[in-house]
Amino acid sequence: MGTYVRQPVEFVRGEGARLWDDEGNEYLDFLCGISVSLLGHCHPGVVEAVREQAGRLIHVGNLFYTEPPMRLAARLSELSLDGKVFFTNSGAEAIECALKLARKRRAGGEFVVLERGFHGRTYGALSATPQEAKQAPFAPLVPGFRAVAPDDPEALFAAVNDRTAAVIVEAVQGEGGIHPLESGLLDAARAACDLRGALLICDEIQCGLGRTGALWGFEHAGIRPDLITLAKGLGGGLPIGACVASPEVSDVLGPGDHGSTFAGGPMVAAAANAVIDVVEDPELLPAVRAKGERLRLGLEGAGLEVRGIGLMVAFRTADGRGLAARALAEQRLVLNATGPDTVRLLPPLNVSEAEIDEAVSRIAALL
Ligand SMILES: Cc1ncc(COP(=O)(O)O)c(C=O)c1O
Repeated sequence: MGTYVRQPVEFVRGEGARLWDDEGNEYLDFLCGISVSLLGHCHPGVVEAVREQAGRLIHVGNLFYTEPPMRLAARLSELSLDGKVFFTNSGAEAIECALKLARKRRAGGEFVVLERGFHGRTYGALSATPQEAKQAPFAPLVPGFRAVAPDDPEALFAAVNDRTAAVIVEAVQGEGGIHPLESGLLDAARAACDLRGALLICDEIQCGLGRTGALWGFEHAGIRPDLITLAKGLGGGLPIGACVASPEVSDVLGPGDHGSTFAGGPMVAAAANAVIDVVEDPELLPAVRAKGERLRLGLEGAGLEVRGIGLMVAFRTADGRGLAARALAEQRLVLNATGPDTVRLLPPLNVSEAEIDEAVSRIAALL
């Protein structure tokens, strides 16, 4: 179906931050499948883990135990909320799990979401994504969602009441154009949820796993959510997502409440464990911060107005889509536009300094 506006290029191979097309041309990838290839293309640890697991056991389903997802659940939990994990195949499904959990906990409860937020395309996730163009053709949506401005802590605080099941936020709004939320907004969300007995859900699908130079986006605000959702980079290119719960709400969903045939299978979980091996390296996050700074300074040096944090960066330009298309065709640099005036960069977390400088000079050449 014609749901994607595809660029006229066919990729056949990737390695690190490089891609090659079917004519042998080499590209620099500063989009990474929208942050999915978190460690670049075909990271050796991920490739080896997948190869090994594919030859051993690919699927038995969630009626039985297998080691890779058990280990992954324990590691994700230890790295975040110390509770329990539900695995999914995608980001939107991780959001669905969080929504169902929050509504089961507070029957008939409502959700407070942020304008400019994006949480996915399934009905629950779409209902949490207050964008007219994305929602309108699919009405009626799931009832009970209310959107507030992402820069108004008082409005957010006032919107949360005793019927609120959860507040859902992205610490850095990704699809909305790479907008880090002010810490006051996250503080207000936490305080309102505590006061009203609602859950705070941090959608870390795009900004989590080290992307911002902290392991989790919410750490920049010094708050702790009740639930986090993960996907994108977690599988290093393979489809796996997760909803991670704090211990207080880890047992809200019980047998029969939720499920997925494929989710959290041993092969995708083995890939994710290989990703976590790298993300846990104490040298990774300081390097992401330094490289993010280098990228920001380089873009600013080219005269651009830059937003973002760590290696989650965007700049303003008059014709974002046009510039991203020219970057691909003329400079063999993969980027994308999140809107008419914003171009987004999500390079691999292990991108080299030389590759950052190269991307900056290719962008400068386009301006
Ligand atoms: C913050 C956020 N949440 C949810 C999603 C939906 O994830 P998926 O496309 O895997 O369903 C995305 C995808 O862009 C996202 O950026």
